[in-house]
Amino acid sequence: MTDEYSSLAGNAALRSALCSECDIPAVEFFRTIDSTQRRARELASDNAPEWTIVVADHQSAGRGQHGRRWASAPGNSVLFSIVLRPASQESMALMPIRSGIAIADALDRVTGASMLLDRIRLKWPNDLVARDAKLGGILCEGQIRGDELRAIVGIGINVRPFEPTQGVTVSTACLDSIAGRVVSRIDVLREVVLSMRASLSQAEPILSNDELSRYASRDWLLGRIITSPTQGKVLGVNERGHLVVENASGFIEEVVTGSVAV
Ligand code: BTN
Repeated sequence: MTDEYSSLAGNAALRSALCSECDIPAVEFFRTIDSTQRRARELASDNAPEWTIVVADHQSAGRGQHGRRWASAPGNSVLFSIVLRPASQESMALMPIRSGIAIADALDRVTGASMLLDRIRLKWPNDLVARDAKLGGILCEGQIRGDELRAIVGIGINVRPFEPTQGVTVSTACLDSIAGRVVSRIDVLREVVLSMRASLSQAEPILSNDELSRYASRDWLLGRIITSPTQGKVLGVNERGHLVVENASGFIEEVVTGSVAV
């Protein structure tokens, strides 16, 4: 299906309008690419300016966290990667959390989610969750060149219903179901980039009280019992972006990285 989002490919005026609206230096759009993350990494190595964005309609080799694949069908998702230059290792480590808050705020605005059930939740460290199913994911990768830090933040958001292939059943959510209408993918892209621009301009090495409470209000794991990477009850996320878990003996543990299973 051709929509404004896929028209970004052949329409320089549309790309330039997006750059002005979002105050970004450049956007590349691909109808099909192996991975926007791979292309953004290449641009970062060639010293592309911060906030250069690579967008795709479809990826043939989309990458997820922990070396997993990120699957999507043409016309169904918003897929993009951003080149960033974090001020410090600490602020780079907080990018998944800050991005998650910003993306969730933007998506709630786009869907008009008024019911608590439909609010976008965040599953530490990188998942966007809606109605208890995965709506999208964030992949943050760092590069260090001498003293200079670079981060590539990749985002995949399901917009249309996901059609499982080869009999594989996956529990995914999509924005169209939450909004109860066909959501414009270019609106999603614009709102998310604008929101991330505001949120990631915050370069403090720890999360502020405001960020912590905004995260807590969306924390899908809060109060849940997890079984991996450690076992216990989730108490929340602390100012360094670590997951705080209380085990059966009352011992409090900070989880720095990993994939969480409930
Ligand atoms: C996850 O595993 O939850 C993170 C998924 C991140 C997927 C996005 S889609 C755009 C960008 N390009 C990639 O190859 N991956 C990220």
